[in-house]
Amino acid sequence: MAFRSFFCCGKASNGKEKGKKSAPTWRVFSLKELQSATNNFNYDNKLGEGGFGSVYWGQLWDGSQIAVKRLKVWSNRAEMEFAVEVEILARVRHKNLLSLRGYCAEGQERLIVYDYMPNLSLLSHLHGQHSAECLLDWGRRLRIAVESAEGIAYLHHHATPHIIHRDIKASNVLLDSDFQARVADFGFAKLIPDGATHVTTRVKGTLGYLAPEYAMLGKASESCDVYSFGIFLLELVSGKKPIEKLSAMMKRTIADWALLLAREGKFKEVADPKLNGNFVEAELKRVVLVALVCAQNLPDKRPTMLEAVEFLKGESKEKLVTLENAELFKADLAGNYQGLSGPEDSSDCISEEKDSKS
Ligand SMILES: Nc1ncnc2c1ncn2[C@@H]1O[C@H](COP(=O)(O)OP(=O)(O)OP(=O)(O)O)[C@@H](O)[C@H]1O
Ligand SMILES: [Mg+2]
Repeated sequence: MAFRSFFCCGKASNGKEKGKKSAPTWRVFSLKELQSATNNFNYDNKLGEGGFGSVYWGQLWDGSQIAVKRLKVWSNRAEMEFAVEVEILARVRHKNLLSLRGYCAEGQERLIVYDYMPNLSLLSHLHGQHSAECLLDWGRRLRIAVESAEGIAYLHHHATPHIIHRDIKASNVLLDSDFQARVADFGFAKLIPDGATHVTTRVKGTLGYLAPEYAMLGKASESCDVYSFGIFLLELVSGKKPIEKLSAMMKRTIADWALLLAREGKFKEVADPKLNGNFVEAELKRVVLVALVCAQNLPDKRPTMLEAVEFLKGESKEKLVTLENAELFKADLAGNYQGLSGPEDSSDCISEEKDSKS
Protein backbone atom coordinates (compact mmCIF):
# COMPACT_ATOMS: atom_id res chain seq x y z
CA MET A 1 0.00 0.00 0.00
CA ALA A 2 1.26 3.48 -0.93
CA PHE A 3 0.57 4.67 2.59
CA ARG A 4 3.38 2.70 4.15
CA SER A 5 6.06 4.11 1.88
CA PHE A 6 5.77 7.46 3.68
CA PHE A 7 7.16 6.02 6.86
CA CYS A 8 10.80 5.30 7.01
CA CYS A 9 11.56 5.47 10.69
CA GLY A 10 10.10 6.16 14.08
CA LYS A 11 12.62 8.60 15.38
CA ALA A 12 11.55 11.94 16.66
CA SER A 13 13.50 15.13 16.26
CA ASN A 14 13.46 18.02 18.67
CA GLY A 15 15.98 19.97 16.69
CA LYS A 16 18.70 19.50 19.28
CA GLU A 17 19.61 15.88 18.83
CA LYS A 18 20.64 15.86 15.20
CA GLY A 19 23.10 13.12 14.46
CA LYS A 20 22.41 11.33 17.72
CA LYS A 21 20.94 7.85 17.59
CA SER A 22 17.77 7.66 19.62
CA ALA A 23 15.30 4.89 20.34
CA PRO A 24 12.23 4.80 18.10
CA THR A 25 9.49 6.89 19.65
CA TRP A 26 6.54 5.67 17.65
CA ARG A 27 5.52 2.56 15.80
CA VAL A 28 2.87 0.98 13.62
CA PHE A 29 0.11 -0.75 15.59
CA SER A 30 -1.99 -3.60 14.27
CA LEU A 31 -5.75 -3.24 14.32
CA LYS A 32 -5.95 -6.41 16.37
CA GLU A 33 -3.70 -4.94 19.05
CA LEU A 34 -5.78 -1.77 19.29
CA GLN A 35 -9.03 -3.73 19.32
CA SER A 36 -7.77 -5.78 22.20
CA ALA A 37 -6.42 -2.70 24.05
CA THR A 38 -9.76 -0.88 23.84
CA ASN A 39 -12.03 -3.90 24.44
CA ASN A 40 -13.06 -3.72 20.80
CA PHE A 41 -13.69 0.04 20.91
CA ASN A 42 -16.19 -0.49 23.67
CA TYR A 43 -18.54 2.39 24.46
CA ASP A 44 -17.38 2.28 28.10
CA ASN A 45 -13.86 3.05 26.92
CA LYS A 46 -14.93 6.13 25.00
CA LEU A 47 -13.30 9.35 26.24
CA GLY A 48 -15.10 11.66 23.87
CA GLU A 49 -15.72 12.57 20.28
CA GLY A 50 -14.34 15.30 18.04
CA GLY A 51 -14.25 16.23 14.39
CA PHE A 52 -11.89 13.40 13.42
CA GLY A 53 -13.81 10.65 15.20
CA SER A 54 -14.12 9.02 18.61
CA VAL A 55 -11.34 8.73 21.19
CA TYR A 56 -11.03 5.57 23.31
CA TRP A 57 -9.03 4.72 26.41
CA GLY A 58 -6.97 1.55 26.12
CA GLN A 59 -4.30 -0.51 27.81
CA LEU A 60 -1.51 -2.30 25.95
CA TRP A 61 -0.07 -5.69 26.83
CA ASP A 62 2.79 -3.99 28.72
CA GLY A 63 0.28 -2.21 30.99
CA SER A 64 0.78 1.25 29.47
CA GLN A 65 -2.32 3.35 28.92
CA ILE A 66 -3.15 4.84 25.56
CA ALA A 67 -5.76 7.03 23.90
CA VAL A 68 -6.83 5.86 20.44
CA LYS A 69 -8.47 8.21 17.98
CA ARG A 70 -10.45 6.45 15.27
CA LEU A 71 -11.23 8.21 11.97
CA LYS A 72 -14.95 8.08 11.30
CA VAL A 73 -15.11 8.70 7.56
CA TRP A 74 -12.52 7.31 5.17
CA SER A 75 -11.78 8.77 1.74
CA ASN A 76 -8.98 8.50 -0.81
CA ARG A 77 -7.92 12.06 -0.20
CA ALA A 78 -7.93 11.59 3.58
CA GLU A 79 -5.60 8.61 3.03
CA MET A 80 -2.88 10.73 1.47
CA GLU A 81 -3.29 13.56 3.94
CA PHE A 82 -3.21 11.17 6.87
CA ALA A 83 0.12 9.81 5.68
CA VAL A 84 1.70 13.23 5.24
CA GLU A 85 0.42 14.59 8.53
CA VAL A 86 1.45 11.58 10.56
CA GLU A 87 4.88 11.79 9.01
CA ILE A 88 5.24 15.42 10.13
CA LEU A 89 3.70 14.95 13.55
CA ALA A 90 5.74 11.90 14.36
CA ARG A 91 8.85 14.07 14.19
CA VAL A 92 7.63 16.77 16.53
CA ARG A 93 8.58 16.36 20.17
CA HIS A 94 8.19 18.91 22.95
CA LYS A 95 7.34 18.58 26.65
CA ASN A 96 4.14 20.55 26.15
CA LEU A 97 2.87 18.79 23.04
CA LEU A 98 0.98 15.53 23.01
CA SER A 99 3.14 13.50 20.70
CA LEU A 100 2.21 10.51 18.64
CA ARG A 101 2.77 7.05 19.95
CA GLY A 102 1.91 5.50 16.64
CA TYR A 103 -0.75 4.83 14.08
CA CYS A 104 -2.68 2.03 12.44
CA ALA A 105 -3.78 1.92 8.80
CA GLU A 106 -5.54 -1.31 7.90
CA GLY A 107 -8.27 -1.53 5.29
CA GLN A 108 -10.32 1.60 5.76
CA GLU A 109 -9.42 1.94 9.42
CA ARG A 110 -7.23 4.92 10.33
CA LEU A 111 -6.27 5.15 13.97
CA ILE A 112 -3.90 7.42 15.84
CA VAL A 113 -2.38 6.34 19.12
CA TYR A 114 -1.30 8.75 21.89
CA ASP A 115 -0.26 8.49 25.51
CA TYR A 116 -3.32 8.59 27.73
CA MET A 117 -3.53 11.83 29.73
CA PRO A 118 -5.06 10.85 33.10
CA ASN A 119 -6.30 14.35 33.89
CA LEU A 120 -8.06 14.59 30.52
CA SER A 121 -8.64 17.97 28.93
CA LEU A 122 -8.84 21.42 30.41
CA LEU A 123 -12.43 21.49 29.19
CA SER A 124 -13.32 18.67 31.58
CA HIS A 125 -11.99 20.73 34.52
CA LEU A 126 -13.58 24.01 33.51
CA HIS A 127 -16.97 22.85 32.28
CA GLY A 128 -17.09 19.05 32.27
CA GLN A 129 -16.86 15.97 34.44
CA HIS A 130 -14.09 17.27 36.74
CA SER A 131 -15.47 20.77 37.19
CA ALA A 132 -17.04 20.09 40.61
CA GLU A 133 -13.71 18.86 42.02
CA CYS A 134 -11.99 22.28 41.75
CA LEU A 135 -8.60 20.77 41.02
CA LEU A 136 -7.28 23.82 39.23
CA ASP A 137 -5.87 26.19 41.83
CA TRP A 138 -4.21 29.41 40.71
CA GLY A 139 -0.69 27.92 40.63
CA ARG A 140 -1.81 25.14 38.30
CA ARG A 141 -3.68 27.56 36.05
CA LEU A 142 -0.67 29.84 35.70
CA ARG A 143 1.57 26.89 34.90
CA ILE A 144 -0.93 25.62 32.30
CA ALA A 145 -0.99 29.11 30.72
CA VAL A 146 2.79 29.25 30.37
CA GLU A 147 3.21 25.62 29.31
CA SER A 148 0.51 25.68 26.65
CA ALA A 149 2.01 28.91 25.30
CA GLU A 150 5.41 27.21 25.13
CA GLY A 151 3.93 24.26 23.23
CA ILE A 152 2.30 26.51 20.63
CA ALA A 153 5.42 28.70 20.38
CA TYR A 154 7.38 25.56 19.55
CA LEU A 155 4.95 24.69 16.74
CA HIS A 156 5.12 28.21 15.29
CA HIS A 157 8.81 28.93 15.65
CA HIS A 158 10.82 25.74 16.04
CA ALA A 159 9.05 22.83 14.39
CA THR A 160 10.12 21.98 10.83
CA PRO A 161 8.00 22.72 8.86
CA HIS A 162 6.33 25.31 11.08
CA ILE A 163 2.87 24.23 12.14
CA ILE A 164 -0.26 26.34 12.58
CA HIS A 165 -2.60 24.54 14.92
CA ARG A 166 -5.92 26.09 13.80
CA ASP A 167 -7.94 24.61 16.67
CA ILE A 168 -6.52 25.88 19.97
CA LYS A 169 -9.21 25.39 22.60
CA ALA A 170 -9.83 23.94 26.04
CA SER A 171 -10.51 20.39 24.78
CA ASN A 172 -7.21 20.38 22.90
CA VAL A 173 -5.10 21.15 25.96
CA LEU A 174 -4.66 17.92 27.89
CA LEU A 175 -3.25 17.42 31.37
CA ASP A 176 -0.89 14.65 32.41
CA SER A 177 -0.78 13.03 35.86
CA ASP A 178 1.21 16.01 37.15
CA PHE A 179 -1.17 18.55 35.54
CA GLN A 180 1.50 19.46 33.00
CA ALA A 181 -0.16 20.91 29.89
CA ARG A 182 0.10 19.09 26.56
CA VAL A 183 -1.30 20.76 23.47
CA ALA A 184 -3.00 18.14 21.29
CA ASP A 185 -4.27 17.79 17.74
CA PHE A 186 -1.78 20.04 15.99
CA GLY A 187 -1.69 19.35 12.30
CA PHE A 188 -4.84 17.24 12.18
CA ALA A 189 -7.31 19.96 11.29
CA LYS A 190 -6.94 19.09 7.60
CA LEU A 191 -7.93 15.50 8.26
CA ILE A 192 -11.31 16.22 9.72
CA PRO A 193 -13.84 14.84 7.25
CA ASP A 194 -16.03 17.21 5.26
CA GLY A 195 -19.38 17.79 6.87
CA ALA A 196 -18.19 16.80 10.34
CA THR A 197 -20.05 18.25 13.27
CA HIS A 198 -18.00 21.19 14.42
CA VAL A 199 -15.85 22.21 11.49
CA THR A 200 -16.53 23.27 7.95
CA THR A 201 -14.90 22.43 4.69
CA ARG A 202 -13.71 26.01 4.37
CA VAL A 203 -12.81 27.18 7.84
CA LYS A 204 -11.53 24.71 10.42
CA GLY A 205 -11.93 25.54 14.04
CA THR A 206 -14.42 25.95 16.83
CA LEU A 207 -17.07 28.54 17.48
CA GLY A 208 -15.87 31.26 19.82
CA TYR A 209 -12.16 30.74 19.19
CA LEU A 210 -11.83 31.89 15.58
CA ALA A 211 -9.90 35.03 14.73
CA PRO A 212 -12.21 37.35 12.76
CA GLU A 213 -9.96 37.53 9.69
CA TYR A 214 -9.86 33.74 9.58
CA ALA A 215 -13.60 33.26 10.14
CA MET A 216 -14.48 35.78 7.44
CA LEU A 217 -11.71 35.45 4.87
CA GLY A 218 -10.28 32.04 5.65
CA LYS A 219 -6.82 33.55 6.16
CA ALA A 220 -4.98 31.12 8.42
CA SER A 221 -1.74 32.25 10.00
CA GLU A 222 0.17 31.96 13.24
CA SER A 223 -1.67 35.00 14.52
CA CYS A 224 -5.02 33.14 14.26
CA ASP A 225 -3.61 30.68 16.79
CA VAL A 226 -2.54 33.63 18.95
CA TYR A 227 -6.14 34.89 18.91
CA SER A 228 -7.53 31.47 19.90
CA PHE A 229 -4.89 31.21 22.60
CA GLY A 230 -6.06 34.55 24.02
CA ILE A 231 -9.63 33.23 24.23
CA PHE A 232 -8.32 30.04 25.81
CA LEU A 233 -6.43 32.06 28.47
CA LEU A 234 -9.54 34.04 29.37
CA GLU A 235 -11.45 30.77 29.73
CA LEU A 236 -8.69 29.34 31.93
CA VAL A 237 -8.69 32.37 34.24
CA SER A 238 -12.44 33.01 34.41
CA GLY A 239 -13.99 29.55 34.06
CA LYS A 240 -16.43 31.09 31.55
CA LYS A 241 -17.19 29.73 28.09
CA PRO A 242 -15.94 31.63 25.02
CA ILE A 243 -19.46 32.76 24.15
CA GLU A 244 -22.09 33.43 26.77
CA LYS A 245 -25.79 33.48 25.91
CA LEU A 246 -27.32 36.46 27.68
CA SER A 247 -30.78 35.88 26.22
CA ALA A 248 -32.36 34.18 23.23
CA MET A 249 -31.13 37.01 20.99
CA MET A 250 -28.04 38.27 22.77
CA LYS A 251 -24.59 36.74 22.96
CA ARG A 252 -21.46 38.13 24.56
CA THR A 253 -17.93 37.02 23.81
CA ILE A 254 -15.55 36.39 26.67
CA ALA A 255 -13.12 38.94 25.19
CA ASP A 256 -15.72 41.74 25.13
CA TRP A 257 -16.68 40.98 28.71
CA ALA A 258 -13.10 40.85 30.01
CA LEU A 259 -11.94 43.93 28.08
CA LEU A 260 -14.60 46.11 29.69
CA LEU A 261 -13.50 44.93 33.13
CA ALA A 262 -9.81 45.39 32.29
CA ARG A 263 -10.39 48.94 31.08
CA GLU A 264 -12.01 49.72 34.41
CA GLY A 265 -9.15 48.07 36.28
CA LYS A 266 -11.50 45.42 37.72
CA PHE A 267 -9.18 42.47 37.11
CA LYS A 268 -10.29 40.56 40.19
CA GLU A 269 -13.79 40.31 38.71
CA VAL A 270 -12.41 38.30 35.80
CA ALA A 271 -11.23 35.54 38.14
CA ASP A 272 -13.13 32.24 38.27
CA PRO A 273 -15.40 32.28 41.37
CA LYS A 274 -14.19 28.73 42.00
CA LEU A 275 -10.81 30.18 42.97
CA ASN A 276 -12.52 31.75 46.00
CA GLY A 277 -10.25 34.76 45.74
CA ASN A 278 -7.16 32.57 46.12
CA PHE A 279 -4.84 33.96 43.46
CA VAL A 280 -1.91 36.34 43.17
CA GLU A 281 -3.46 39.56 41.96
CA ALA A 282 -0.47 40.77 39.94
CA GLU A 283 -0.24 37.41 38.16
CA LEU A 284 -3.94 37.35 37.40
CA LYS A 285 -3.74 40.86 35.96
CA ARG A 286 -0.77 39.83 33.83
CA VAL A 287 -2.56 36.81 32.37
CA VAL A 288 -5.71 38.83 31.61
CA LEU A 289 -3.66 41.54 29.87
CA VAL A 290 -1.78 38.98 27.79
CA ALA A 291 -5.04 37.21 26.92
CA LEU A 292 -6.62 40.43 25.71
CA VAL A 293 -3.71 41.57 23.56
CA CYS A 294 -3.69 38.10 22.00
CA ALA A 295 -7.46 38.10 21.39
CA GLN A 296 -7.71 41.51 19.79
CA ASN A 297 -9.34 41.79 16.41
CA LEU A 298 -6.41 43.47 14.67
CA PRO A 299 -3.95 40.68 13.74
CA ASP A 300 -0.98 43.04 13.38
CA LYS A 301 -1.30 44.17 16.98
CA ARG A 302 -1.27 40.66 18.41
CA PRO A 303 2.03 39.41 19.87
CA THR A 304 3.81 36.34 18.55
CA MET A 305 3.61 33.22 20.70
CA LEU A 306 7.24 33.74 21.74
CA GLU A 307 6.33 37.19 23.03
CA ALA A 308 3.24 35.78 24.73
CA VAL A 309 5.44 33.28 26.60
CA GLU A 310 7.73 36.08 27.74
CA PHE A 311 4.80 38.25 28.88
CA LEU A 312 3.20 35.36 30.76
CA LYS A 313 6.40 34.56 32.60
CA GLY A 314 6.55 38.21 33.61
CA GLU A 315 10.32 38.22 33.74
CA SER A 316 10.75 41.66 32.20
CA LYS A 317 9.17 44.56 34.10
CA GLU A 318 9.62 46.87 31.09
CA LYS A 319 7.65 44.55 28.84
CA LEU A 320 4.84 44.42 31.37
CA VAL A 321 4.64 48.19 31.38
CA THR A 322 4.43 48.18 27.57
CA LEU A 323 1.66 45.62 27.80
CA GLU A 324 -0.28 47.63 30.33
CA ASN A 325 0.03 50.76 28.24
CA ALA A 326 -1.27 49.14 25.07
CA GLU A 327 -3.80 51.32 23.25
CA LEU A 328 -6.36 48.60 23.61
CA PHE A 329 -6.71 49.23 27.33
CA LYS A 330 -7.01 52.98 27.05
CA ALA A 331 -8.69 54.27 23.97
CA ASP A 332 -12.30 53.52 23.23
CA LEU A 333 -11.54 51.51 20.15
CA ALA A 334 -15.01 51.10 18.78
CA GLY A 335 -14.67 48.76 15.86
CA ASN A 336 -11.90 46.74 17.39
CA TYR A 337 -14.19 45.03 19.84
CA GLN A 338 -17.56 44.99 18.18
CA GLY A 339 -19.52 44.01 21.23
CA LEU A 340 -22.22 41.44 20.97
CA SER A 341 -22.21 38.70 18.37
CA GLY A 342 -18.98 38.76 16.37
CA PRO A 343 -18.20 37.20 13.01
CA GLU A 344 -18.22 33.71 14.51
CA ASP A 345 -21.95 33.96 14.43
CA SER A 346 -22.05 33.31 10.72
CA SER A 347 -23.32 29.80 11.09
CA ASP A 348 -22.60 28.96 7.46
CA CYS A 349 -18.93 29.12 8.41
CA ILE A 350 -18.94 26.78 11.36
CA SER A 351 -21.42 24.91 13.42
CA GLU A 352 -21.63 24.33 17.15
CA GLU A 353 -19.13 22.21 19.02
CA LYS A 354 -20.48 18.84 20.02
CA ASP A 355 -20.76 17.81 23.63
CA SER A 356 -18.33 15.15 24.69
CA LYS A 357 -17.60 13.34 27.89
CA SER A 358 -14.54 15.37 28.77
N1 LIG B 1 -4.53 11.45 24.86
C1 LIG B 1 -5.68 11.68 25.47
N2 LIG B 1 -5.85 11.39 26.77
C2 LIG B 1 -7.02 11.66 27.40
N3 LIG B 1 -8.08 12.22 26.80
C3 LIG B 1 -7.99 12.53 25.49
C4 LIG B 1 -6.80 12.26 24.76
N4 LIG B 1 -6.98 12.68 23.47
C5 LIG B 1 -8.23 13.18 23.43
N5 LIG B 1 -8.85 13.09 24.62
C6 LIG B 1 -10.19 13.57 24.94
O1 LIG B 1 -11.13 13.00 24.04
C7 LIG B 1 -12.11 13.98 23.68
C8 LIG B 1 -12.26 14.02 22.19
O2 LIG B 1 -11.06 14.54 21.63
P1 LIG B 1 -10.96 15.06 20.14
O3 LIG B 1 -9.61 15.65 19.99
O4 LIG B 1 -11.35 13.98 19.19
O5 LIG B 1 -12.10 16.13 20.07
P2 LIG B 1 -12.13 17.65 20.47
O6 LIG B 1 -10.84 18.03 21.12
O7 LIG B 1 -13.38 17.90 21.25
O8 LIG B 1 -12.28 18.39 19.10
P3 LIG B 1 -11.21 18.45 17.90
O9 LIG B 1 -11.64 17.44 16.91
O10 LIG B 1 -11.32 19.83 17.38
O11 LIG B 1 -9.87 18.16 18.47
C9 LIG B 1 -11.65 15.33 24.21
O12 LIG B 1 -12.46 15.72 25.29
C10 LIG B 1 -10.25 15.08 24.65
O13 LIG B 1 -9.94 15.82 25.79
MG1 LIG C 1 -9.04 17.47 20.30
